[in-house]
Amino acid sequence: MNITFGKNTIIEDSVVLGENVTIGHNVIIYAGSVIGHNVVIQDNAVIGKQPVKAKHSALKEVKKNPPVVIGDGCTIGTSAIIYAGAVLENEVFVADLATVRERVTVGEGTIVGRGVAIENDCSIGRKCKLETNCYITAYSNLGDHVFVAPGVVTSNDNYMARSKERFGKMKGITVKDGGRIGAGAITLPGIVIEEDGTVAAGGVVTRDVKKEELVVGIPARKLRDVPEDQLLRNQG
Ligand SMILES: CC(C)(COP(=O)(O)OP(=O)(O)OC[C@H]1O[C@@H](n2cnc3c(N)ncnc32)[C@H](O)[C@@H]1OP(=O)(O)O)[C@@H](O)C(=O)NCCC(=O)NCCS
Repeated sequence: MNITFGKNTIIEDSVVLGENVTIGHNVIIYAGSVIGHNVVIQDNAVIGKQPVKAKHSALKEVKKNPPVVIGDGCTIGTSAIIYAGAVLENEVFVADLATVRERVTVGEGTIVGRGVAIENDCSIGRKCKLETNCYITAYSNLGDHVFVAPGVVTSNDNYMARSKERFGKMKGITVKDGGRIGAGAITLPGIVIEEDGTVAAGGVVTRDVKKEELVVGIPARKLRDVPEDQLLRNQG
């Protein structure tokens, strides 16, 4: 099987480990987790954690999620946490300190940068780049080849934790294939960024972004079309 274990590592019952897996020190892999071939799990990573609810959280209950599935060739960085119910397709790279919550799917070849938080119930496409410390709010859907720059903040609750009306109205963001969000930008709940739509650094996105359009500023408005040579279809 060719599996390398570090010191103080805990592997619970019924964990499935593929061939050629490297596991660092102090790693915890919870019961039933499925780990593919050629996976690297670095020191202090926690794999397959069930979510817990804060005592005063508005959430009614936390359901038990099925075991995590980590595809072939994935790397899980130091102190990263991958929750139960998450599915990482092959060749996903999760950098140090990142968190991937329950019921999140991450597509093949995607990079989840250092300190990134992907909240629950998100779908992330293939070959995306989520850069350092960006925040992907719950119930978001990202297509393929989506780029999210460092420090981007997305949001899903316009009621900001007040009023009963907010329940059932939380809406994550949608970024279609090739969409890009520049450094430190903020997107309001439910925003849709169409294919190759691009948000400039520091923008606050209050309206949907049209296909192949570049928006800038607060509130973000169209500056021009995305240059031809930057469109997804024109990449090598
Ligand atoms: C979109 C972007 C590339 C535009 O930059 P640019 O091509 O240099 O812009 P221009 O020089 O054509 O600027 C046109 C006008 O828009 C303004 N502008 C440009 N970027 C702006 C921004 N992010 N916010 C507000 N206004 C902006 C300029 O000040 C200029 O206004 P002026 O004509 O009154 O002086 C740039 O704003 C950006 O967001 N870069 C992305 C950086 C990033 O996040 N990289 C990934 C992580 S490292």
